[in-house]
Amino acid sequence: MKKLAIAGVGAWGRNLLRNFHSMAGDNLALACDGDPKRLEYIQQQYPGLETTGDYNSIIKRDDIEAVIIGTPPAAHFEMAMAAIKAGKDVFVEKPLVLSVTEGEQLIEEADKRNLILMVGHVMVYHPATLYLKEKIDSGELGKVYYLCASRVNLGKVRNIENALWSFAPHDISIILFLLQKQPVLVTSTGSSYLQRGIEDVVFTVLHFDDGTMAHIHVSWLDPRKDRKLVIVGSEKMAEFDDSQAAEKIRVYDKSVNTRQDYETYGEYLAIRTGDIVIPQIRSAEPLAEECRHFLDCIETRTRPRSDGSEGLRVLKVLDAAQKSLEQNGTPVKM
Ligand SMILES: NC(=O)c1ccc[n+]([C@@H]2O[C@H](COP(=O)([O-])OP(=O)(O)OC[C@H]3O[C@@H](n4cnc5c(N)ncnc54)[C@H](O)[C@@H]3O)[C@@H](O)[C@H]2O)c1
Repeated sequence: MKKLAIAGVGAWGRNLLRNFHSMAGDNLALACDGDPKRLEYIQQQYPGLETTGDYNSIIKRDDIEAVIIGTPPAAHFEMAMAAIKAGKDVFVEKPLVLSVTEGEQLIEEADKRNLILMVGHVMVYHPATLYLKEKIDSGELGKVYYLCASRVNLGKVRNIENALWSFAPHDISIILFLLQKQPVLVTSTGSSYLQRGIEDVVFTVLHFDDGTMAHIHVSWLDPRKDRKLVIVGSEKMAEFDDSQAAEKIRVYDKSVNTRQDYETYGEYLAIRTGDIVIPQIRSAEPLAEECRHFLDCIETRTRPRSDGSEGLRVLKVLDAAQKSLEQNGTPVKM
């Protein structure tokens, strides 16, 4: 197994550390964080794991072949680029970087060296997302009319990236993965209540060329923790509630049929309500699935499901949404 290092073991990075440590054991050779308190925590939890406060010591080590980056997004580009230029495979937490140009540069450099670049779009590793993709691909839901996602809670309030860049990568990545296409038009509005210029709540709408629409509501200023996605298809409808410990998915055999031979309006629109199915979804921690996928990809030299290009597709939507946000919701063509 290749030797790994992790940089950034804060609130989320410690989850990455837990998973990679349990899978890679001693092959996770080095953990780095700029905060000495965080390093102390790692030393207590993982005695024997070498630590450093200096990211360059990872870059300089020839025995380390892959780097996991769990620092705040503003640091992703520089750190990922340094690792790629040093010939290392890279896993970067979402969002990949904070601009489309930076994303393109990372992909180019990684491709030039045949290196693996993976972005932490954990939701595309969620067994429930995979279940929904099967339902869409098999045609069971019919034509997807629209999707409605909500990812809200109270805190953690960030002070560099807004709620759109912090939360929406999850929803955008699920939607693009499910539909396998890019939107043609993006509209986004939001407001900053807690810090000037950093939107706490953002409402984004993606329009696709076949008429499918997706609405994404993100906020860190909401009384409830909600992680929901509703998919309305012409044949069936589905609801994915990730805040539930069990029964995360409900498939509603409901639709509205339009008849050709109608005489009254009431007959024209016939509502069909059938069973509600709560499927058994494989129980697996999505983050563990994601970490395992990265380890498999770096061993077998295969492109990750959420590779750099996938990260870039999500970045392009975030970029369009940000432009629309800055223009008070003016639709932005992609
Ligand atoms: N996939 C998910 O569900 C999920 C959830 C939360 C956060 N995240 C992502 O994880 C990343 C980190 O978020 P967080 O909430 O853990 O942030 P955090 O601020 O809690 O932790 C970041 C850590 O990185 C360290 N750090 C910063 N710059 C560094 C550098 N140059 N060298 C070494 N260490 C450095 C900090 O000291 C800190 O310990 C972000 O990209 C965020 O979007 C993902």
